[in-house]
Amino acid sequence: MRPGRRWAVLIPIKGRRNPAQQQQGSGHPDPEAKHVLTRCRHWDLRHETGDSAELSENLLTISHEEALLVSRKTSFPESWNQGSHLCLIDGPSLFMRVYLTPATALPGIEDRRQEHAEWLKQFALLKNDALQGLETNPKTQALLHSMEAHMQWEETVLFPRLDQFLGTSRVTRELGYEHQGIRRWLPQLPDVLDELKPSSSLTVDARRKVWEKFSLDLIHLIEHHIEHEERGPYPLYERLEAKEGKGRIQVQ
Ligand SMILES: [Fe+2]
Ligand SMILES: [Fe+2]
Repeated sequence: MRPGRRWAVLIPIKGRRNPAQQQQGSGHPDPEAKHVLTRCRHWDLRHETGDSAELSENLLTISHEEALLVSRKTSFPESWNQGSHLCLIDGPSLFMRVYLTPATALPGIEDRRQEHAEWLKQFALLKNDALQGLETNPKTQALLHSMEAHMQWEETVLFPRLDQFLGTSRVTRELGYEHQGIRRWLPQLPDVLDELKPSSSLTVDARRKVWEKFSLDLIHLIEHHIEHEERGPYPLYERLEAKEGKGRIQVQ
Protein backbone atom coordinates (compact mmCIF):
# COMPACT_ATOMS: atom_id res chain seq x y z
CA MET A 1 0.00 0.00 0.00
CA ARG A 2 1.29 3.45 -0.80
CA PRO A 3 2.42 5.72 2.02
CA GLY A 4 -0.41 7.78 3.37
CA ARG A 5 -3.13 5.66 1.72
CA ARG A 6 -5.28 3.41 3.88
CA TRP A 7 -8.21 1.08 3.54
CA ALA A 8 -11.49 2.57 4.64
CA VAL A 9 -11.78 -0.44 6.93
CA LEU A 10 -8.73 -2.57 7.34
CA ILE A 11 -8.67 -5.76 9.33
CA PRO A 12 -5.04 -6.46 10.22
CA ILE A 13 -3.95 -9.99 9.58
CA LYS A 14 -1.00 -11.24 11.55
CA GLY A 15 1.70 -13.15 9.73
CA ARG A 16 0.20 -12.49 6.31
CA ARG A 17 2.22 -13.91 3.44
CA ASN A 18 1.95 -13.27 -0.24
CA PRO A 19 -0.25 -15.63 -2.30
CA ALA A 20 2.72 -17.53 -3.79
CA GLN A 21 4.03 -18.33 -0.33
CA GLN A 22 0.60 -19.38 0.83
CA GLN A 23 0.20 -21.84 -2.00
CA GLN A 24 3.62 -23.32 -1.44
CA GLY A 25 3.35 -23.91 2.26
CA SER A 26 -0.05 -23.24 3.69
CA GLY A 27 0.09 -25.75 6.49
CA HIS A 28 -3.46 -26.84 5.59
CA PRO A 29 -3.73 -30.59 5.05
CA ASP A 30 -6.64 -30.17 2.64
CA PRO A 31 -6.25 -27.70 -0.23
CA GLU A 32 -10.02 -27.05 -0.22
CA ALA A 33 -9.68 -25.30 3.12
CA LYS A 34 -7.92 -22.45 1.36
CA HIS A 35 -11.03 -21.58 -0.59
CA VAL A 36 -13.36 -20.84 2.31
CA LEU A 37 -13.77 -17.11 2.86
CA THR A 38 -13.85 -15.94 6.44
CA ARG A 39 -12.99 -12.21 6.31
CA CYS A 40 -14.11 -9.28 4.23
CA ARG A 41 -12.22 -6.01 3.95
CA HIS A 42 -13.99 -2.89 2.68
CA TRP A 43 -12.46 -0.38 0.31
CA ASP A 44 -14.97 2.43 -0.02
CA LEU A 45 -14.28 4.53 -3.11
CA ARG A 46 -17.63 6.31 -3.25
CA HIS A 47 -15.98 9.59 -2.21
CA GLU A 48 -12.50 9.14 -3.69
CA THR A 49 -11.21 7.62 -6.89
CA GLY A 50 -8.48 5.11 -5.99
CA ASP A 51 -6.33 3.79 -8.79
CA SER A 52 -5.69 0.44 -10.37
CA ALA A 53 -2.03 0.37 -9.29
CA GLU A 54 -3.19 0.60 -5.71
CA LEU A 55 -5.63 -2.21 -6.39
CA SER A 56 -2.78 -4.35 -7.76
CA GLU A 57 -0.77 -3.74 -4.61
CA ASN A 58 -3.69 -4.60 -2.42
CA LEU A 59 -4.53 -7.77 -4.30
CA LEU A 60 -1.09 -9.07 -3.45
CA THR A 61 -1.99 -8.92 0.22
CA ILE A 62 -5.24 -10.91 -0.03
CA SER A 63 -5.08 -14.33 1.55
CA HIS A 64 -7.20 -17.27 0.39
CA GLU A 65 -9.58 -16.66 3.27
CA GLU A 66 -10.17 -12.98 2.51
CA ALA A 67 -12.30 -10.96 0.15
CA LEU A 68 -11.91 -7.30 -0.71
CA LEU A 69 -15.20 -5.47 -1.21
CA VAL A 70 -14.80 -2.38 -3.40
CA SER A 71 -17.62 0.17 -3.73
CA ARG A 72 -17.65 2.90 -6.39
CA LYS A 73 -20.17 5.44 -7.59
CA THR A 74 -19.04 4.99 -11.19
CA SER A 75 -18.41 1.83 -13.19
CA PHE A 76 -15.15 -0.04 -12.82
CA PRO A 77 -12.63 1.06 -15.46
CA GLU A 78 -11.05 -1.54 -17.75
CA SER A 79 -7.81 -1.42 -15.75
CA TRP A 80 -9.73 -2.74 -12.71
CA ASN A 81 -10.52 -6.00 -14.50
CA GLN A 82 -7.57 -7.65 -12.83
CA GLY A 83 -7.46 -10.53 -10.42
CA SER A 84 -10.38 -12.77 -9.65
CA HIS A 85 -13.53 -10.80 -8.86
CA LEU A 86 -17.30 -11.11 -8.64
CA CYS A 87 -19.82 -8.42 -9.55
CA LEU A 88 -22.36 -7.76 -6.79
CA ILE A 89 -23.99 -4.49 -7.94
CA ASP A 90 -23.65 -3.11 -11.45
CA GLY A 91 -25.07 0.40 -11.31
CA PRO A 92 -26.61 2.71 -12.08
CA SER A 93 -25.72 4.64 -8.91
CA LEU A 94 -23.49 2.12 -7.16
CA PHE A 95 -20.98 -0.47 -8.35
CA MET A 96 -19.73 -3.19 -6.02
CA ARG A 97 -17.27 -5.98 -6.57
CA VAL A 98 -15.47 -8.44 -4.36
CA TYR A 99 -11.94 -9.36 -5.26
CA LEU A 100 -10.75 -12.74 -4.03
CA THR A 101 -8.13 -15.33 -4.76
CA PRO A 102 -8.98 -17.73 -7.59
CA ALA A 103 -10.50 -21.05 -6.61
CA THR A 104 -11.38 -24.18 -8.46
CA ALA A 105 -15.09 -24.45 -9.18
CA LEU A 106 -16.92 -25.45 -6.03
CA PRO A 107 -20.08 -27.48 -6.42
CA GLY A 108 -22.58 -25.90 -4.11
CA ILE A 109 -25.98 -24.57 -5.06
CA GLU A 110 -26.11 -26.02 -8.53
CA ASP A 111 -29.68 -27.13 -7.80
CA ARG A 112 -30.68 -23.48 -7.50
CA ARG A 113 -29.06 -22.63 -10.83
CA GLN A 114 -30.94 -25.52 -12.42
CA GLU A 115 -34.18 -24.13 -11.04
CA HIS A 116 -33.41 -20.78 -12.69
CA ALA A 117 -32.91 -22.46 -16.06
CA GLU A 118 -36.00 -24.63 -15.59
CA TRP A 119 -38.26 -21.61 -14.96
CA LEU A 120 -37.30 -20.01 -18.27
CA LYS A 121 -37.93 -23.32 -20.03
CA GLN A 122 -41.33 -23.65 -18.34
CA PHE A 123 -42.45 -20.16 -19.38
CA ALA A 124 -41.76 -21.07 -23.02
CA LEU A 125 -43.51 -24.44 -22.69
CA LEU A 126 -46.55 -22.92 -20.98
CA LYS A 127 -46.88 -20.31 -23.69
CA ASN A 128 -46.85 -23.01 -26.39
CA ASP A 129 -49.32 -25.20 -24.47
CA ALA A 130 -51.68 -22.25 -24.06
CA LEU A 131 -51.51 -21.35 -27.74
CA GLN A 132 -52.46 -24.95 -28.54
CA GLY A 133 -55.35 -24.85 -26.09
CA LEU A 134 -53.82 -27.43 -23.75
CA GLU A 135 -54.39 -27.55 -19.99
CA THR A 136 -51.81 -25.31 -18.29
CA ASN A 137 -52.97 -25.08 -14.69
CA PRO A 138 -50.97 -27.93 -13.05
CA LYS A 139 -47.70 -26.81 -14.66
CA THR A 140 -48.46 -23.18 -13.81
CA GLN A 141 -49.07 -23.97 -10.16
CA ALA A 142 -45.88 -26.05 -10.02
CA LEU A 143 -43.91 -23.14 -11.49
CA LEU A 144 -45.40 -20.61 -9.07
CA HIS A 145 -44.65 -22.91 -6.15
CA SER A 146 -41.07 -23.53 -7.31
CA MET A 147 -40.36 -19.82 -7.68
CA GLU A 148 -41.83 -18.85 -4.32
CA ALA A 149 -39.97 -21.64 -2.47
CA HIS A 150 -36.75 -20.66 -4.20
CA MET A 151 -37.10 -16.97 -3.30
CA GLN A 152 -37.94 -17.84 0.30
CA TRP A 153 -34.79 -19.95 0.57
CA GLU A 154 -32.73 -17.06 -0.75
CA GLU A 155 -34.35 -14.59 1.64
CA THR A 156 -33.95 -16.78 4.72
CA VAL A 157 -30.62 -18.52 4.03
CA LEU A 158 -28.63 -16.87 1.26
CA PHE A 159 -29.29 -13.19 1.96
CA PRO A 160 -28.53 -13.23 5.71
CA ARG A 161 -25.29 -15.13 5.10
CA LEU A 162 -24.15 -12.61 2.50
CA ASP A 163 -25.15 -9.68 4.76
CA GLN A 164 -23.21 -11.17 7.64
CA PHE A 165 -20.06 -11.67 5.60
CA LEU A 166 -20.15 -8.41 3.66
CA GLY A 167 -21.13 -6.31 6.67
CA THR A 168 -23.79 -4.57 4.60
CA SER A 169 -27.26 -5.42 3.29
CA ARG A 170 -26.85 -3.21 0.23
CA VAL A 171 -26.44 -6.15 -2.17
CA THR A 172 -29.31 -8.23 -0.87
CA ARG A 173 -31.63 -5.21 -0.64
CA GLU A 174 -31.29 -4.87 -4.39
CA LEU A 175 -31.96 -8.57 -4.91
CA GLY A 176 -34.97 -8.21 -2.59
CA TYR A 177 -36.39 -5.37 -4.71
CA GLU A 178 -36.14 -7.66 -7.71
CA HIS A 179 -38.03 -10.35 -5.79
CA GLN A 180 -40.76 -7.80 -5.07
CA GLY A 181 -41.04 -7.07 -8.78
CA ILE A 182 -41.27 -10.77 -9.59
CA ARG A 183 -43.96 -11.30 -6.95
CA ARG A 184 -45.93 -8.34 -8.30
CA TRP A 185 -46.22 -9.77 -11.82
CA LEU A 186 -46.11 -13.54 -11.27
CA PRO A 187 -49.75 -13.94 -10.11
CA GLN A 188 -50.89 -12.71 -13.54
CA LEU A 189 -49.47 -15.81 -15.24
CA PRO A 190 -52.69 -17.94 -15.14
CA ASP A 191 -54.78 -15.12 -16.64
CA VAL A 192 -52.19 -14.33 -19.29
CA LEU A 193 -52.10 -17.98 -20.34
CA ASP A 194 -55.91 -18.08 -20.53
CA GLU A 195 -55.82 -15.08 -22.85
CA LEU A 196 -53.43 -16.93 -25.18
CA LYS A 197 -55.74 -19.93 -25.57
CA PRO A 198 -57.87 -20.39 -28.71
CA SER A 199 -60.95 -20.17 -26.48
CA SER A 200 -60.03 -16.57 -25.62
CA SER A 201 -62.00 -13.76 -27.26
CA LEU A 202 -58.77 -11.95 -28.25
CA THR A 203 -57.51 -11.74 -31.80
CA VAL A 204 -54.26 -13.45 -32.73
CA ASP A 205 -52.53 -10.05 -32.80
CA ALA A 206 -53.91 -9.12 -29.39
CA ARG A 207 -52.71 -12.43 -27.96
CA ARG A 208 -49.21 -11.76 -29.29
CA LYS A 209 -49.24 -8.34 -27.61
CA VAL A 210 -50.43 -9.81 -24.32
CA TRP A 211 -47.45 -12.16 -24.25
CA GLU A 212 -45.02 -9.43 -25.34
CA LYS A 213 -46.12 -7.21 -22.48
CA PHE A 214 -45.91 -10.07 -19.99
CA SER A 215 -42.40 -10.90 -21.21
CA LEU A 216 -41.31 -7.30 -20.79
CA ASP A 217 -42.86 -6.99 -17.33
CA LEU A 218 -41.86 -10.31 -15.83
CA ILE A 219 -39.72 -12.64 -17.90
CA HIS A 220 -37.09 -10.00 -18.69
CA LEU A 221 -36.97 -9.10 -14.99
CA ILE A 222 -36.47 -12.76 -14.08
CA GLU A 223 -33.69 -13.10 -16.67
CA HIS A 224 -31.98 -9.99 -15.28
CA HIS A 225 -32.37 -11.28 -11.73
CA ILE A 226 -30.92 -14.69 -12.57
CA GLU A 227 -27.93 -13.10 -14.27
CA HIS A 228 -27.45 -10.80 -11.26
CA GLU A 229 -27.47 -13.70 -8.78
CA GLU A 230 -25.30 -16.07 -10.77
CA ARG A 231 -22.69 -13.44 -11.62
CA GLY A 232 -21.81 -12.57 -8.01
CA PRO A 233 -23.98 -13.52 -5.01
CA TYR A 234 -24.21 -17.25 -5.82
CA PRO A 235 -20.47 -17.89 -6.36
CA LEU A 236 -19.69 -15.74 -3.31
CA TYR A 237 -22.09 -17.79 -1.18
CA GLU A 238 -20.41 -20.97 -2.42
CA ARG A 239 -17.04 -19.62 -1.33
CA LEU A 240 -18.48 -18.87 2.09
CA GLU A 241 -20.17 -22.19 2.62
CA ALA A 242 -17.66 -24.57 1.09
CA LYS A 243 -16.59 -26.78 3.95
CA GLU A 244 -13.35 -28.65 4.21
CA GLY A 245 -13.93 -32.24 3.16
CA LYS A 246 -17.62 -31.60 2.55
CA GLY A 247 -17.39 -30.78 -1.12
CA ARG A 248 -21.03 -29.90 -1.50
CA ILE A 249 -23.34 -27.47 0.19
CA GLN A 250 -26.51 -29.04 1.50
CA VAL A 251 -29.43 -27.05 0.16
CA GLN A 252 -32.45 -27.04 2.41
FE1 LIG B 1 -33.65 -14.50 -6.27
FE1 LIG C 1 -32.52 -17.30 -7.54
